[in-house]
Amino acid sequence: MKKTGLTIAVVGATGAVGKEMLAALESRRFPFAELRLFASERSVGKSLACAGKSWTCAKLAKGAFQGVDFAFFDASDEVSREWVKEARDAGAIVIDNSGTFRMHPEVTLAVPEVNGARLKDLGPGALVAGPNCTTAQLVVALKPLHDRYGLKRVIVSTYQSVSGAGAAAIEELRSQTGDVLAGREARAAKLKYPIAFNLIPQIGGFLSGADEGTTSEEKKVIEETRKILELPNLAVACTAIRVPTVACHAESVNAEFERAPDPAEARRLLEKFPGVEVIDLPEYPMNLHGAGRDPVYVGRIRKDPSHPNGLQFWVVADNLRKGAALNAIQIAEALLA
Ligand SMILES: NC(=O)c1ccc[n+]([C@@H]2O[C@H](COP(=O)([O-])OP(=O)(O)OC[C@H]3O[C@@H](n4cnc5c(N)ncnc54)[C@H](OP(=O)(O)O)[C@@H]3O)[C@@H](O)[C@H]2O)c1
Repeated sequence: MKKTGLTIAVVGATGAVGKEMLAALESRRFPFAELRLFASERSVGKSLACAGKSWTCAKLAKGAFQGVDFAFFDASDEVSREWVKEARDAGAIVIDNSGTFRMHPEVTLAVPEVNGARLKDLGPGALVAGPNCTTAQLVVALKPLHDRYGLKRVIVSTYQSVSGAGAAAIEELRSQTGDVLAGREARAAKLKYPIAFNLIPQIGGFLSGADEGTTSEEKKVIEETRKILELPNLAVACTAIRVPTVACHAESVNAEFERAPDPAEARRLLEKFPGVEVIDLPEYPMNLHGAGRDPVYVGRIRKDPSHPNGLQFWVVADNLRKGAALNAIQIAEALLA
């Protein structure tokens, strides 16, 4: 495959992830010559800047992916279901950030620092999925600890910003905050309940059957963590909570291992792991550190007093970056390498 002068497509270029894609393509100097931007009908003709040029949004249509080397899908499950095949048939390598193909047994679900070896030998027409934003940062923090101590069980509670629900949810938090401060009623539209000055312990719909009481977001974290870490029987429990922040997801993690972890050694292992930055004692990572930045920040690393082989810690990362756009570009970079 050629490695410079690439033609790339970004589907969903005007969305929360799409905009971050353009920023990350630029900041990582991704070697493209032509950029095709796609969005919904309402954005046709809109111009977006990337790498010193202005690019115009179009609507997806037959032939849209002819000559495209990499197609990044950052729109919705429906759009991916409808258009990924067309892009692959045209010979593009598709990197899909939607939830559509992640758990398909033949699709690589990739976080390059963790399972980058899986990206070898993929060429034109290949499909690689990027994980749910919450999973991406979790597996990066777990991997070096698993390699040393052998992971057995994970309990994670998430504090997920509204950007995880897209551009409309960011706008909703902003306008509701103004409404509440002005003494007006906050009205929900994109999210189920008002999010300003509130926490919502539901992300996605509630599942039924054996998963009754679990949300679709929590199920994604459970299944995707197992798939990426290649631990199909890993015990994982997740409570996913929407919080009134704009950027970054934060996670409180309790992990149980085969062997007793040493917090000081765990800190060193995390410090050495690619993509991780440790901020610990007396400081700790906050959304303020992560917003607009690439690393997965880990801190509050300490023994879990409830279990001899337990470790607890706090993880913060920009869900639009490591949770989506940056991770997708790292996948493309790994494929080019
Ligand atoms: N937000 C995150 O943290 C995150 C993390 C990981 C994965 N993801 C996934 O990434 C995808 C995008 O999420 P987001 O948060 O960026 O959502 P978003 O802000 O709502 O953006 C959706 C994008 O899709 C475009 N779109 C809608 N209908 C389309 C169509 N028929 N054809 C082409 N484009 C269309 C929209 O264009 P208009 O502006 O014209 O409507 C917009 O650019 C989703 O699949 C999501 O699950 C998101």
